[in-house]
Amino acid sequence: MCGIFGYVGNKKAIPIVLEGLKTLEYRGYDSAGVAGISQGKTLFYKDKGKIGHLAKLLEKKRLEVEAAIAHTRWATHGKVNSLNAHPHFDAHETLAIVHNGIIENFQKLKSDLVAQGIAFVSETDSEVIAQLFAFHFQGNLKQTLLKILPLLEGSFAIAGVHRNFPKDIFVACKNSPLAIGVGESEYFVSSDVNGFLKYTNKVIFLENHEIGLIQPSGLKIYNEKGEIVAKQTESITSKIEEISKLHYPHFTLKEIYDQPESINRLFKNRFEEEFGAICLKDMGIDEETFMETSRILILACGTSWHAGSVGAYLFESLSRIPTQVEISSEFRYKNPIVMKDTLVIAISQSGETADTLAAVHELKAKGAKVIAVCNREGSELSRLSDHTLFIQAGPEIGVCSTKAFTNQVVLLSLLALHLGRMHHLSKEEGIHFIREIKKLPGLVSEVLSCADEIHVLAKKYNHFTHFFFIGRSYMYPTSLEAALKLKEMSYIHAQAYPAGELKHGPIALIDSNCPTVALFGNKHTFSKLLSNMMEIKAREGPILAFAPRGFDEVSSIVDDVFWLPDTCDEFASIPTSVALQLFSYYMALERGCDIDQPRNLAKSVTVE
Ligand code: F6R
Repeated sequence: MCGIFGYVGNKKAIPIVLEGLKTLEYRGYDSAGVAGISQGKTLFYKDKGKIGHLAKLLEKKRLEVEAAIAHTRWATHGKVNSLNAHPHFDAHETLAIVHNGIIENFQKLKSDLVAQGIAFVSETDSEVIAQLFAFHFQGNLKQTLLKILPLLEGSFAIAGVHRNFPKDIFVACKNSPLAIGVGESEYFVSSDVNGFLKYTNKVIFLENHEIGLIQPSGLKIYNEKGEIVAKQTESITSKIEEISKLHYPHFTLKEIYDQPESINRLFKNRFEEEFGAICLKDMGIDEETFMETSRILILACGTSWHAGSVGAYLFESLSRIPTQVEISSEFRYKNPIVMKDTLVIAISQSGETADTLAAVHELKAKGAKVIAVCNREGSELSRLSDHTLFIQAGPEIGVCSTKAFTNQVVLLSLLALHLGRMHHLSKEEGIHFIREIKKLPGLVSEVLSCADEIHVLAKKYNHFTHFFFIGRSYMYPTSLEAALKLKEMSYIHAQAYPAGELKHGPIALIDSNCPTVALFGNKHTFSKLLSNMMEIKAREGPILAFAPRGFDEVSSIVDDVFWLPDTCDEFASIPTSVALQLFSYYMALERGCDIDQPRNLAKSVTVE
């Protein structure tokens, strides 16, 4: 979603902020812009379209500024056009601001300012921040921020420049992340630490209601009362090499191929096989918390919710703990009941998803203990939660989540085994599951080695415009995830159902133009799924099956089968999902889609 980047220092600011914006491109955007102060004037360039287009505009202008702010916009309020693109300014262009988040009371603030004779030029909520700032400005940046920020309802990360302070960037945030990279006599501001990793791994995270004034010579952070705050500089361990496509044509394909390694990374020092035990000590959660857990509540959105849904089956089956899995945006408004001994697990690759953050805020206010399952170090979710279990998938740049999903499921499997061993699984059962789970990187490699077969299937099926995905038990959330991947990457309509539900209505749509992708990874329900296949065939529906090797009966019923390496039902989601990620990838490739950055999508969904 929207991205902010800013620079103050001795280097040329514009090339640095353009490069910084490029690293945020993966988050999804539709327009881009920059601003800075030059010779007492606020200069800015912005337009709809890609950063490359903005860079070309700037090449001709030779913009020289000492501090610069830049933005990629993902439209929420107002059309995609240059007026609505950021930066925004006041009527006299005394300042420019970029904003992530949503100002929920902007209509009221705007009409008050309009009543004072102030003219607005955009349809955005963000412009009100610039206009309000100028309206209250009496010569002091900090005092103005202290005055206007309490008036803003909603969420914001703001960076701004003012013509009276050509070397300064001012920043502020509330429920939207903003990080400051600390270099040698230079500072970077970004909504995502990946933006400045090339220059520094030293970072200061701005907390809610904090204000920052940044100059090349130093930085000052204040709290909402205007008192100075002593901030800790943290070191980020991600490496810039992890943010490269290498020889792959797309980040998405690279990330699909990363999976054997990313699963192995998560496995490191996790197994005490002879005791059938999982070692999570280093993750800092006291065993008492686990012992006392009698109920689990999982919160997440999108792909992370699918991973959580697989997790719910795992917790109930392996740990025998009742588990509820909720979509964060729905849960939040339910006035949730938090029972004692409930362990809340909030799952988010980015750790920035506004709906999940809001749900966690709500639960924390009710006294719940929250464990984050997250990919991003230093993310807001991780800072908000009592503990974080990092999935260690490495940076995920493709907008469609692939390796983060598998590592989320693997991490939840490890947690479920750990809780299972504490509560009821025998040592022998523990040993059995550890042996099975340890095979996963090898099984994923096997699937990847058959990518060409999946490509052939994609060539055959990519002309269809509607698909059903079905599965039972663990394969139901797996089919939800597979259908989402197909929708996102190839723009083909796909709907997932528990296989048993098809006959309760959706079967009305089955005919020769509506194929079904059937996931057979759950052996326990194999014969039931075969009967569902017969029902589809009786209505001439084409069927593409993803089935474990050895289940030959499948091929006599369905049109095509991709044979998967066999594993136990509990872990079958992993090889199955990887095969279906490849299927969506090749479907999208055949249809010429923008695979790494599908239309309308954003990597970090920072608005509710
Ligand atoms: C789909 C996808 C999204 C995210 C969702 C939650 O491929 O990536 O559905 O899973 O927006 O994002 P996180 O996990 O960052 O909270």
